[in-house]
Amino acid sequence: MAVPLLDLRLQYAQVKDDVQRRMNALCESQHFILGPPVEELETAVRDYTGCGHAIGASSGTDALLAILMAMGIGRGDAVITTPYTFFATAGCIQRVGAEPVFVDIDAATYNMDPVKLGEYLRKKCHAGPDGRLLTAAGNRVRAIMPVHLFGCVCDMDRIGALASEFDLPVIEDAAQAIGADYPSSSGKRLRAGAIGEASYFSFFPSKNLGAFGDAGMATCREADLAAQIKLMRNHGMGAQYHHEKVGGNFRIDALQAVVLSAKLPHLDAWHAARRRNAALYREEFTKLGLLDRITLPVEPYAASGVKNHHIYHQYVVRVPDRDKVREKLTAAGIGCAVYYPIPLHLQECFASLGHSAGDFPESEKAARESLALPIYPELTADQIREVAGALAKALT
Ligand SMILES: Cc1ncc(COP(=O)(O)O)c(C=O)c1O
Repeated sequence: MAVPLLDLRLQYAQVKDDVQRRMNALCESQHFILGPPVEELETAVRDYTGCGHAIGASSGTDALLAILMAMGIGRGDAVITTPYTFFATAGCIQRVGAEPVFVDIDAATYNMDPVKLGEYLRKKCHAGPDGRLLTAAGNRVRAIMPVHLFGCVCDMDRIGALASEFDLPVIEDAAQAIGADYPSSSGKRLRAGAIGEASYFSFFPSKNLGAFGDAGMATCREADLAAQIKLMRNHGMGAQYHHEKVGGNFRIDALQAVVLSAKLPHLDAWHAARRRNAALYREEFTKLGLLDRITLPVEPYAASGVKNHHIYHQYVVRVPDRDKVREKLTAAGIGCAVYYPIPLHLQECFASLGHSAGDFPESEKAARESLALPIYPELTADQIREVAGALAKALT
């Protein structure tokens, strides 16, 4: 039996009526740019995540650009992130003229390692003449951007403590993590997008909450920053044709907003189904005796009692001889993918940063070993058994 990596048609069947009703209403109104459908989605995302403000954008990438521009981050600045993430995280930092600075990931979670972040801030940065924190290249460190990779929130207590110590804002890359919960040591359940000073989500179609094309959303804590992000989203325009800043066209389409508004009420059930699938995989891999050959994803917050402790945007295992295993699974009709085969510090476009192989060993190792298996909510138990069986065969 072939099992695809993702089949969005099954999800569409669940929301089709509501999506079509909303789309029809929008078509009748012929109001496609911003307006009530976008505001409805922004309010729903704000309420769902508990963030202060939510601003719809044309993609996750554009949401991040709007945030960086709104924070005035540009030439002479630096933002700290990890090299094991989708390109846009660091691409946007470079696009606004700032220096992307990488710290390595934690091997178990694939997320920014707070110990390495601390080492970087303490040992590799220095204070400039005005006391501001500078990178070795002389750029001013302006923000820390941890990435909640694959749907599990970073260790935000430890990252937040370092951010406070060095007086830096945190921008969450929550592109893959809408709805992911974090059990903060304050005793509060916090949700991705509502932890740092600013954050953003991607609604790329394959995301847990996916649009019918590109879409994204910026979130932030303070009203002043929200106003700046809104300004940047629409050509820096306050009053009509009065441009206070040079922004861009980063507006979310109203058509995408109505699709997302129809899907959002289903999101928690879809997250739960993804977690159920992850638990089924564990059972199957255990039965097949594979646990000493493959490494399963960890669930660092499972015991905390928060609901969406992992939302499994991707279900990523580590396997020996990954490329061979991938070939065998593909030949057997099992959808699988590599996120991400080349860590960002080794990408051609970042050659000017001067990194070489060996600089971020955990990111490089993850890029060699990781393999994403199908995890979408509508997978059946039979399909999961099929994938597990095919993986067992591919490992022999
Ligand atoms: C970690 C991460 N950051 C940023 C992005 C960019 O989002 P988008 O594709 O919506 O521009 C993505 C989405 O692919 C992502 O997974």
